[in-house]
Amino acid sequence: MSPTPVTTGLPTQPASYSWEATDEEVAARYGVPLDEILRFDLNTSPAPPELVARVLAAGRFEAPLSEYPPTDYRRLVEAAAGVYGVATNELLVGAGADEILDLAGKTFLPAGGRAVVPAPTYAMYRVVTEQRGATAIAVPREGRDAGYRLDLAATRAAAAEADLVWLCSPNNPTALPEPDGAIETLLDGIRSDAAAAGRQAAMVVLDEAYAEFVGRSLIDLRLDQPNLVVVRTASKAYALAGLRVGFAIARPETIARMAPFRPPGSVSTVSVSVVTAALLDPAAMAANVARVDAERDRLSDALRAAGWSVGPSVTNFLLVDLGTVERAAATATGLLHRGLVPRTFPAGHPLAHCLRLTIRDRAGNDRLVAAAREIEKAAP
Ligand SMILES: Cc1ncc(COP(=O)(O)O)c(C=O)c1O
Repeated sequence: MSPTPVTTGLPTQPASYSWEATDEEVAARYGVPLDEILRFDLNTSPAPPELVARVLAAGRFEAPLSEYPPTDYRRLVEAAAGVYGVATNELLVGAGADEILDLAGKTFLPAGGRAVVPAPTYAMYRVVTEQRGATAIAVPREGRDAGYRLDLAATRAAAAEADLVWLCSPNNPTALPEPDGAIETLLDGIRSDAAAAGRQAAMVVLDEAYAEFVGRSLIDLRLDQPNLVVVRTASKAYALAGLRVGFAIARPETIARMAPFRPPGSVSTVSVSVVTAALLDPAAMAANVARVDAERDRLSDALRAAGWSVGPSVTNFLLVDLGTVERAAATATGLLHRGLVPRTFPAGHPLAHCLRLTIRDRAGNDRLVAAAREIEKAAP
């Protein structure tokens, strides 16, 4: 059993997203003071950039807060287009990457359709697929020794009968990008198979939520791949998850297909103003990426020295392989007793023997290392 509550739908219902326990639940369940709880489950950052306080204190937003946000999010679109190097009609704003995934599902997945989900990956691809009344076709990724990379042949074969392919690079929760050239090869294969069969190529949604941490993006592929939508977010490297801002980037005609599904004003005026400022001044984002870079090796090495098998990562989180489901559950419980909340994987998940842990600041990471040492020392 998972040490924290997990919501699972009935088999007849679409999948729904499940979270770890809230701070309050962990405090009550494990007897830890609320202010000592530290979340390692959300792949977020320890603190927002200073510019947030500046923008909020100035109180000058895009529009008075009595009004709706600007309907076209114009300044945000212009700032994001500048950062990503695209035209403003190649970009769509959503309430986080999650809303963009939902819009992609609504646009490209008919009820009764099929979507390819290379597993393990971010849970929302299956959730969005099933909520559209479509079927998620899970294609296992290669194993741990192969860096959980895509099985290109199997993914391409599954795509030949699908409406949509969900890709994620760097992949959550396995923490690595696809090898150079792999996604390009897959996209070319999908398009040539479709042309040979005289059918529309499946749409490919490439989630690059963690791209800034690896310093690479495949946004430029949109130029010759009309079936590609790249997803980006302000939640991870920009450390602004609470503002809920994400982007779809694709050819103008693809953005034009998605835009009608966009709800009016789902991104708040405050979010528009702060994220615009963050995009226009990327120094804070760069500093956050540098923090993660500096802490990643230190934390990984210390956890390995404590006896954990920590996988390689280019992201702001680590995948720890505890070997068995039982040890993963016992380790999660040990962490929770110390107020540290890991991301667990439910029974039956291909990574049920693993935990995913966010890289926090030095002090937070030190608490994790101390806990790992104690847990391993006490282990039978
Ligand atoms: C791969 C991936 N995509 C999307 C999201 C959601 O991002 P957002 O906060 O922008 O909705 C996450 C969050 O953990 C993620 O890991």
